[in-house]
Amino acid sequence: MLEARAAVKSLHAYRPPLAGRQGLHLDFLRLDFNESTVGCSPRVLARLRSLDAEALARYPEREPVEREAADFLGLDAAQVLLTNGVDEAIHLLCSTYLEPGDEAIIVVPTFALYAIFAQAEGARVVQVLSGENFTFPLNDLLSRLSPRTRLIAVANPNNPTGAAVASEVLLQIAQAAPRAAVLVDEAYFEFHGETMLDHAARPENVFVARTFSKAYGLAGLRIGILAGDAGQMAMVRRVASPYNVNAVALAALPEALCDQEYVEHYVAEVQRGRGILERELTSLGLQYWPTRANFVLVRIGDAHAEFVQALRARGILVRDRSSDRSSDPRCEGCVRLTVGSSEHTRTLIAALREVVAKLRERREVRV
Ligand SMILES: Cc1ncc(COP(=O)(O)O)c(C=O)c1O
Repeated sequence: MLEARAAVKSLHAYRPPLAGRQGLHLDFLRLDFNESTVGCSPRVLARLRSLDAEALARYPEREPVEREAADFLGLDAAQVLLTNGVDEAIHLLCSTYLEPGDEAIIVVPTFALYAIFAQAEGARVVQVLSGENFTFPLNDLLSRLSPRTRLIAVANPNNPTGAAVASEVLLQIAQAAPRAAVLVDEAYFEFHGETMLDHAARPENVFVARTFSKAYGLAGLRIGILAGDAGQMAMVRRVASPYNVNAVALAALPEALCDQEYVEHYVAEVQRGRGILERELTSLGLQYWPTRANFVLVRIGDAHAEFVQALRARGILVRDRSSDRSSDPRCEGCVRLTVGSSEHTRTLIAALREVVAKLRERREVRV
């Protein structure tokens, strides 16, 4: 009988709760995956509409677009690899640096795929628990470094907490672990505004990942960037398919990068909206954690599932992060709400008021 590798057999299947989302009524407001609620720039759509059969018949050529992406970031092309979303960037780093038995350190709760891709290589995942209120556990993390530590992955800002950590802290980690690839996952960079790429003196073991799935509204196209030291990136490139990013995504990317006005406008709406939502949560008496991303983690308490259901009944999808899941420690009773356009934030707030009032009547909301 054909058997998968032991490391693969011991993996839990990762199934994002997307099921049925495609078929749902179009009017559903999707605040469950931190996507853009308004979609991509019209310039991107126009470019996509202009594609013809010939454009699709050819194998995609990544390098010219990679140069544009590198220019945009102020880096050399040799420092940049376009990827099939940040998901692939994580996968490639794990394939490049992890041997079976190596250790990968993650700070939990965090994005699920770091652990999955590391385990798939046969690595041992060392989970370092965030502090109270999701403070970054620098000393705990440093105390868990070992000669076998070959990967450290930090989402900055973090998902699902929205917490950010200073670049200096990440540099300190990279310097303390020169044999480990340090992935700084900046999937939510645009909403935060601070980046590791601003540090010219980055050690060679630091990698920065970016995505076009969030602020740019292109999650369906699957496109992201991995940036790092040119010598290290040459190694990562060896394990990547030459055609990892498809022709449609490559056609769209230059337009997406050119239309910064569109992205900036959306990001400004989200930043305003998250402040408004935070104030609303305060006045509703709900516990939440200040966020630097396009989502807010809120503690609902025992009624988290009813809360998610009640919003769904009002046409709004949000993400239950309550931790019956071992990957989300400290998230008991918590729900993550994506912040979208101003209009969508108003819709969310109106529904929140109704749902919280209803649950309170039934004494199901903790506070
Ligand atoms: C921290 C983090 N990294 C990466 C991703 C996935 O990015 P992409 O769509 O580029 O694969 C997500 C998506 O939710 C995320 O939260």
